[in-house]
Amino acid sequence: MEFEYNETHQMIKKSVREFAEKELAPESAHYDEVQETPVHWMKKMAEMGLTGMAIPTELGGAGLDYISYSIAIEEISRIDASAGVMLGVNNGLACEPLYKWGTEEQKKRYLTKVASGEWVGAYALTEPGAGSDAAALTSTAELKGGEWHLNGSKIFVTNGYMAKLLITYARTDPGTGPKGISAFIVPDSSPGYQRVKKENKLGIRASDTELIAFDDCRIPEDHLLGTRGEGFKIAMATLDVGRIGIASQALGIAQAAMEAAIKYSKERKAFGGPISNLQAIQFKLADMATQIDAARLLTHRACWMKDQGIKHTTESSMAKLFASEACKRIVDQALQIHGGYGFVKDYPVERYFRDQKITELYEGTSEIQRLVIARSLLRGS
Ligand code: CAA
Repeated sequence: MEFEYNETHQMIKKSVREFAEKELAPESAHYDEVQETPVHWMKKMAEMGLTGMAIPTELGGAGLDYISYSIAIEEISRIDASAGVMLGVNNGLACEPLYKWGTEEQKKRYLTKVASGEWVGAYALTEPGAGSDAAALTSTAELKGGEWHLNGSKIFVTNGYMAKLLITYARTDPGTGPKGISAFIVPDSSPGYQRVKKENKLGIRASDTELIAFDDCRIPEDHLLGTRGEGFKIAMATLDVGRIGIASQALGIAQAAMEAAIKYSKERKAFGGPISNLQAIQFKLADMATQIDAARLLTHRACWMKDQGIKHTTESSMAKLFASEACKRIVDQALQIHGGYGFVKDYPVERYFRDQKITELYEGTSEIQRLVIARSLLRGS
């Protein structure tokens, strides 16, 4: 077993950290405040090769492994969790299904654009009446005259404002549960594609979250991804990868919160010296570091399994569950160390506290991760 980063991993950690500190940090508080999407960040991250990290270079990606990917998402999220999810969705939820299930033609035509960052990609599964119970989705796709006609609406679509391409899921065979769902590639230029509403959010406010409607949205027949009826499996297997991204995002937020707590505790004086002298503070810091390490190991194990081609559904859920809940405890304690200063926007810990919450909600709530893990235990796998 190796517990060390190789040279590539070290290089990625260093270069992405420098990039995020130089290019994102100065603008982070501003985009959080105004809740606008910094489209130029995506362009810069694409120039850094971060938009299709695990996709082969001949298909527009960087040809790296998933540990590299996790390191990059963590380092970006350490500075800005919104930028972290923009990348996570583009890599894990848009590039991955195109790479795994796309035809050669679909890869050439679309994956190359999304992996290189020329186009932003998104993933649209959730509907107003189908969140945790994803198989209950009611959007439909009907094949008529060589075109799929999509009808329905998708909510909470990360990157929905920027995205030029959606991977979406619709019912092609009504009434047949998960097996009646198919996956589709939908360019935003398709007739009937509508961006309806941008959400006003508690956290990750620089990342755009849209409601997208398909009003008899028409796409060519060959924009089916995978085979008819395979959509639910594509959606679930894609989330196995997506959840690694969210675990990495939670790690980045947690790391930032711990660093902020260490810095503040060394500066703030009370009871005759810096509060870092107090065991009450030291124990909190020790717990933070231990939980971050555990979360990172779980996350990198899931990445390693993905790289080895081993099924990692349970391990991705464990990584996301533990990292997001550890992050909650860490941001809470980091804010506590800041006292009243943690509650105001002069210190970044206030933003970490708000940004953390989504990591327990999207790409499957903590309850869904527990359900996935428990099912695998009970199956005996
Ligand atoms: N890989 C491949 N196939 C899988 C799979 C996986 N990880 N998980 C399930 N399947 C297959 C099953 O094998 C089964 O197929 P068979 O019948 O042929 O065996 C089929 O899919 C149905 O599986 P289940 O019976 O387990 O399905 P279920 O209806 O009980 O649902 C669930 C399972 C785990 C609850 C699932 O609905 C789920 O993960 N829900 C949460 C959805 C979610 O995470 N949504 C987030 C959307 S993305 C987002 O957050 C927005 C964003 O932009 C970031």
